[in-house]
Amino acid sequence: MEQPHLELMSRPRRNRRTPAIRSLVRETDLSPSRLVLPLFVHRGDDDEAIESMPGCHRYGLEGLVDAVERASDVGVQAVVLFEALPDELKTPTADAAADPDGLIPRSIAAIKTAHPDVVVMTDVALDPYSSDGHDGIVAPDGRILNDETVAILVEQSLAHARAGVDIVAPSDMMDGRVGAIRVALDDEGFTDVGILAYTAKYASGFYGPFRGALDSAPAHGDKKTYQMDPANVREAIRELQADIDEGADMVMVKPAGPYLDVVRAVAEVSPVPVAAYQVSGEYLMIKAASAAGWLDERSIVLETLTGIRRAGADLILTYHAVQAAGWLDER
Ligand code: PBG
Repeated sequence: MEQPHLELMSRPRRNRRTPAIRSLVRETDLSPSRLVLPLFVHRGDDDEAIESMPGCHRYGLEGLVDAVERASDVGVQAVVLFEALPDELKTPTADAAADPDGLIPRSIAAIKTAHPDVVVMTDVALDPYSSDGHDGIVAPDGRILNDETVAILVEQSLAHARAGVDIVAPSDMMDGRVGAIRVALDDEGFTDVGILAYTAKYASGFYGPFRGALDSAPAHGDKKTYQMDPANVREAIRELQADIDEGADMVMVKPAGPYLDVVRAVAEVSPVPVAAYQVSGEYLMIKAASAAGWLDERSIVLETLTGIRRAGADLILTYHAVQAAGWLDER
């Protein structure tokens, strides 16, 4: 007997019928090799849980190398390093930022010795080192001094390059820093060290838990004179143009989830790979909601990361990297 049926010329559900068919027609791939794991280091030997970011730690050098190993074991081949400096070592001129014997240079060397193939990226900015908690030098009248700051960022980048970093990632949003860093690296023979520019970094409330992790919240004022206005997207293209002209190898949009239209706009015209940073607040919202039993962590993490890839990001910085890689492996 003939089944009753609608006369449909098109039944999109046919392409969704089995897991194998779905994977044949999937438009967006998400794989661990696209993920970058941000890691925090501190001067203690012991690893310290970060209250504002459940599941994340401030690592000592040994713990750091172990964390890199766990990441690389599940296919996450890149990390980006941030230092949590004790308050008493922070100064108005962020002196520890460019210390050649500082913790970041030592961390780079430790990782490169143990895992030479892992891509080591470092954050370049002054806020973890500044007693003002700003990414730049603060003048007595409260202005953030651009060119004075760039001079220190250059020294910070050189200190990382001498220690063996693969890619420096300036997150400060000063004008002209990518070009200044490029010239200085080349002058010292570091033509192979790459620059991942934080190109469209917005003045976002989503950085709150990260500032808790580093105790790096601004002592006065906010970051709106250097980080971008969340209302703007055209300006992201202007920043992109500048970073490309100055020699950026990769560009970034940050945060990721609330700025997918910016990721899309940048990806459509960028001649270099585009990164997106799923930041601490995005991480914490997922962690908090799943800890309360309100959301399923696994599906939410994979869905948000897929969304960021679908919007056009080639690589994604995410605190979920290792967990996500484990889940991707099971799929
Ligand atoms: C600082 C920096 C910040 C983040 C990365 N680098 C915080 C800020 O700009 O205040 C945020 C990362 C996150 O929230 O996960 N240069």
